[in-house]
Amino acid sequence: MDPLTFVLFGATGDLAKRKIFPTLYHLFLDGKLPASFSVIGLGRREWTDNVLRTHIKESLNHFSKRFSEECSRMDTFLDAIHYVPLDVTDQESYNHLLKQIQKREAEHSIPENRLFYLSVAPDLIDTITTNIQKSGLGDGKGWKRLIIEKPFGSDLTSAQLLNKKLTSAFEESEIYRIDHYLGKSMVQNLEVLKFANPIFQSSWNPENISNVQITASETVGVEDRASYYDRAGAIRDMFQNHMLQMLMMTAMQVPEQLNASSIRQEKRKIMEFLQPLKKEDFNEHIVRGQYGPGKINGTPVVGYREEPGIEAVSQNDTFIAARLFVHYPDSGPVPFYIRTGKRMKEKSTRIVIEFKNRNKDLYKGKIDQAEPNLLDIEINKEGMSLQLNLKNPATKQIEPISFSFAANAKETPGEYELLLYDALRGDSTFFAHWEEVELSWQWVQPILEAFDEDLLPLHFYPSGSMGPEAADRLLEKDGFTWW
Ligand code: BG6
Repeated sequence: MDPLTFVLFGATGDLAKRKIFPTLYHLFLDGKLPASFSVIGLGRREWTDNVLRTHIKESLNHFSKRFSEECSRMDTFLDAIHYVPLDVTDQESYNHLLKQIQKREAEHSIPENRLFYLSVAPDLIDTITTNIQKSGLGDGKGWKRLIIEKPFGSDLTSAQLLNKKLTSAFEESEIYRIDHYLGKSMVQNLEVLKFANPIFQSSWNPENISNVQITASETVGVEDRASYYDRAGAIRDMFQNHMLQMLMMTAMQVPEQLNASSIRQEKRKIMEFLQPLKKEDFNEHIVRGQYGPGKINGTPVVGYREEPGIEAVSQNDTFIAARLFVHYPDSGPVPFYIRTGKRMKEKSTRIVIEFKNRNKDLYKGKIDQAEPNLLDIEINKEGMSLQLNLKNPATKQIEPISFSFAANAKETPGEYELLLYDALRGDSTFFAHWEEVELSWQWVQPILEAFDEDLLPLHFYPSGSMGPEAADRLLEKDGFTWW
């Protein structure tokens, strides 16, 4: 791996503390950082190198499972980290930053490879990328890369505007947009599961799939994010990004090659195959919900409108379910049912693929008692099961049996570890490409407008349930139920 400088904007913030520093430390322990590297942490506060290092040590103590492992190597890791105070709006600050970066580069013989990680509020992204460009920070002789976190805009127009600004300072190939769901090992594994297993090569296709169900349910409520979440809702917070990314990964067809551009091309096609919704059909396809009071694991919780910082008349969606059709040009549509919400019964992210049964007639009278073949992929629990049918010789009845696999979660690297390692190596396969992001916003935009215009009813669901009953009816009309 190329020696590099990791420039972290927002080094004193929450994400840096919880995720970014622990991730860098784990990569360091695993020998996945280059032999020469320098980390420059930036923030508004007047900290010193030592203050930042102490802060990182405390963060690791809290957020790294490997804190006590090889403690002796921690000092070597911390030695590579420096702090520079920075006012992101002040051009002079960037000139000073450039000198600091160059100083470390000279000390450690690091070529001018610079990775800029923007862990900052979305409204600062434009200012920072413009100043990176103006100050010449990105004009080194090596490569430059930019990592940004969602949200990538709040609707189609704002996303396009943001992208225009980003691409005036960075090429698309230099931009790594994190969608942490693409860092989940089972989401990354969808491609291998489909294309490396002959059993699925012949069955995971529109001819053989009856429907796909994707659920991401959470037990947490709005937490302390009222000001963001009450404007975003489940549709911007989860649906436009994580849910549609999982749909693309599940639905994509075999890429020409296993590289970022071929995989992204296949993902883009899926967004193009996704049937756009017409306003008059929304009620048949979209259900929006908001949690009311209820119980989570036996503990009473308040409804969304009683949460601190939320207005008593808020119309915000904390749940969304959708019935979508991917129209493969050569083989027709496959229905996808998607739902995500807060304060639901359990924390679970699952993709369930239900296969068609072509031998109904052969098993007349018997097959009706059998369940469909299901491939159930547990994203967060990192496992899956395959449900088949067998005859119980004693009862002569067909009964479902299940083969399951569970990964050893302790051994699987976390989402940020997988993603940051890829970004350091320059592999953008599991980052969201602008075309995917734009097509997702395009698809979602009419729904955002319908929500704003109150064209769709807001269904209330008790906390601790699986969402409004209206979401069940989305599938019932096609003869299915949620698995
Ligand atoms: C984030 C959303 O992107 O994903 C949160 O902003 C949500 O609202 C979180 O809770 C869910 O992620 P995970 O990995 O816990 O399923």
